[in-house]
Amino acid sequence: MRSTVSLSLLAELKTQGKPIVMVTAYDYATARVADRAGVDMVLVGDSAAQVVLGRRSTVDITVDEMLILAAAARRGVESAFLVGDLPFGSTEMSDGQAVATATRFVKEAGVDAVKLEGGWPERLSRIRAIVGAGIPVIGHVGLTPQTAVALGGMRAQGRSPEAAARLAREAIAVQAAGASALVIEAVPRAVVDVLLPAMCIPVIGIGAGAADGQVLVMHDLLGITEGVMPRFVKTYAEVGTAMVRGVEAYAADVRSGTFPQKENDYSASAGAVAAAHDVLAVQLLPGRA
Ligand code: KIV
Repeated sequence: MRSTVSLSLLAELKTQGKPIVMVTAYDYATARVADRAGVDMVLVGDSAAQVVLGRRSTVDITVDEMLILAAAARRGVESAFLVGDLPFGSTEMSDGQAVATATRFVKEAGVDAVKLEGGWPERLSRIRAIVGAGIPVIGHVGLTPQTAVALGGMRAQGRSPEAAARLAREAIAVQAAGASALVIEAVPRAVVDVLLPAMCIPVIGIGAGAADGQVLVMHDLLGITEGVMPRFVKTYAEVGTAMVRGVEAYAADVRSGTFPQKENDYSASAGAVAAAHDVLAVQLLPGRA
């Protein structure tokens, strides 16, 4: 299955100044929600490690785990452009490893493109190799959670003169390497504003001001994620609370005997009931163990 939102449509949206909407999804159900809501891009992000699998960081999610999630999301997406995140450890060794991993995402999960974090020389080589294999790549610079330890933690990037210059160089280099779009995470709006006129490809921001589009983690924006949110998150619904209330109500009904009711039952013919009765009557005859 291919999405109906294409790279050329995304490029057109940029040209027309129409903001591109991207959201994460990690399974059939959340991908259906995103697609029905009419978003342009769905990202099966490695944030699944935390959001879905309850791990502390994104680095330990495997390719096989990502592929199960991406294939499920594929089945839920009809229209949006579907992107799969290449997890930590799946591209670092060589261009060949990166192409092999990206190819699995296309063949086994049916994604339209893969996303790759980083804009330093080795990463640029990987982008060129994957694009050279005919697979579209979405770049990701600024805060790159897979290498957050090396960046000094999960914090905003591009704030000092050196960091802003490095960020600008990386963004331009990712574009030149052949990426079809670029995610910029946790970078001051003023720095991104300077960068935008130099970018021909769509720039999708997350905590990076008003770029060509925005991406958020679905569980954050729906209020399912617990705990302190990064400042770039806006919560649009309290779905987590609604889910807890729903399950609480179900538990209360079961405990009080108000669920199930007649309307939840199946009917049986008198003959069926009599037959069950007969079997049990025989089973319960005196002398039978
Ligand atoms: O994994 C993810 O969800 C991401 C987005 C935050 C851009 O990379």
